[in-house]
Amino acid sequence: MNINISFPPDAMRNLSLEELDARISVAKSRLGDKLLILGHHYQSDEVIRYADHRGDSFGLAKAAAQTDAEYIVFCGVHFMAETADILTSPDQKVFIPDVTAGCSLADCAEIDQVEDAWKIIHALGACRITPITYVNSGADLKAFCGRNGGLVCTSSNAKAAIEWALERSEKLFFFPDQHLGRNTAFKMGIPLDEMVVWDLEKPLGGNTPEDIQKAKIILWDGYCCVHQEFNAAYVKNLRKKDSSINVIIHPECNFELAQTADYMGSTAYIIRVIEESSAGTRWAVATEKNLVNRLKNQYSDKHIEILQSFEPFCETMAKITTVNLCYQLEQLVQGNLINQVVVEEKYCKEALKAVNRMLGLKI
Ligand code: 13P
Ligand code: SF4
Repeated sequence: MNINISFPPDAMRNLSLEELDARISVAKSRLGDKLLILGHHYQSDEVIRYADHRGDSFGLAKAAAQTDAEYIVFCGVHFMAETADILTSPDQKVFIPDVTAGCSLADCAEIDQVEDAWKIIHALGACRITPITYVNSGADLKAFCGRNGGLVCTSSNAKAAIEWALERSEKLFFFPDQHLGRNTAFKMGIPLDEMVVWDLEKPLGGNTPEDIQKAKIILWDGYCCVHQEFNAAYVKNLRKKDSSINVIIHPECNFELAQTADYMGSTAYIIRVIEESSAGTRWAVATEKNLVNRLKNQYSDKHIEILQSFEPFCETMAKITTVNLCYQLEQLVQGNLINQVVVEEKYCKEALKAVNRMLGLKI
C-alpha cells in the first residue's frame, strides 16, 4: 500500500496558537464521532489538550482496541500508532501527524539481528525460551514474538509479562530495552548473575556459551537515550540537600539509579503516585520534561522537580505539533487520508497474537 506522506505548507507555520486552535476545533467538530485523538503523556501541553484520551503506552493501546472511531489520530510516536493499527479493524485507519516521529529505543533492535541471536541462543541449548518485546519496537518484532510463543509488554505490565513467560519456559529473551528487563526482573527477585546482555557487535553477544546456558534472562543491549540522562550520582547529591525528597523514576532508567529510587513505574504510574500523594510532599522525577513540567504546574501544592540539572527531552515525541495536527485533521475533513500508519499484512496476525497475550495478562 502506498502511503501518502504529507507535511504542512510553510504558510501554516506562521499561524498563531489562537488561529490553530480555532481551525483544530472546527476540524474536530466536522469529523465528530468519526475521529478519536490519542495523546501520550510526553506530548506538549499545546498538543495534548486536543487528545480525547491521554495515557501511557498501555492505556493508549487499550483505548485503540476499544474504540469504534473510523479515524484514530495518534499524538505520540510511530510504534504506538503501529500498535493501534494492529489492534483496530481493517475499516479503521490510524494516522500520525508526522510519520518521522520514531523512537531511538525501538530502533535499537532490527528483526534480522534478533532472528540471528535467537538461532544462536537456541543452538546452545535445547530448553524452551520465550521472547518478550517491549512495545517500543517494530511490528516485525511483535510478530516474531507472536509466532514464537511470546508476547509484548509495556512498562506498566512488564512484571506480569515476565511471570507469564516464566510459567511457560526456563529462559526469556527480552528486547529491545535492557533496563526495563533488568529493573523489572531484579525487583521480582531474579539476581543479576542470572541475566546476560546480548551485545550484537560481539560473537555470542559478548558471552560464553556457559553464560547463555546458565542465564534465565537474555537482555538485548538497547536503551532510551532520554532516560539515560538520569543518574544515581545526582540522587546522592540531591538527598544530601533535601532529605525529604521522594525519587520516582521510569523503568527505562539505568539499574544503578533504580536502586536509589523510592518508586518506579510507567508514565501513568508516575502521574498516579504524585496525584495521590499528600500536599507538601517533595518529588524528584526521572522522565521526559513535558510530563514533569505538566505535573509541576498541575500540583502546585507539592514540590516537583526533574531529577537532573537540565531537562531531558524526547525530540521525536516533540515532532507532533499543533501545526501538523491541524494540517492532519483538515486533510481528513477533505477526505485526504495522509500519513496513515499501516502495518504490513504479513506481520498483522502474528503481532496481534503477541499484543493480545499482553492485553490478557492479569495485572
Ligand atoms: P509509558 O508506557 O510508560 O508511557 O512509556 C513509553 C515511553 O516511551 C517511555 O519513554
Ligand atoms: Fe522512545 Fe525514549 Fe522517546 Fe520514549 S522517551 S519515545 S523510549 S526515545
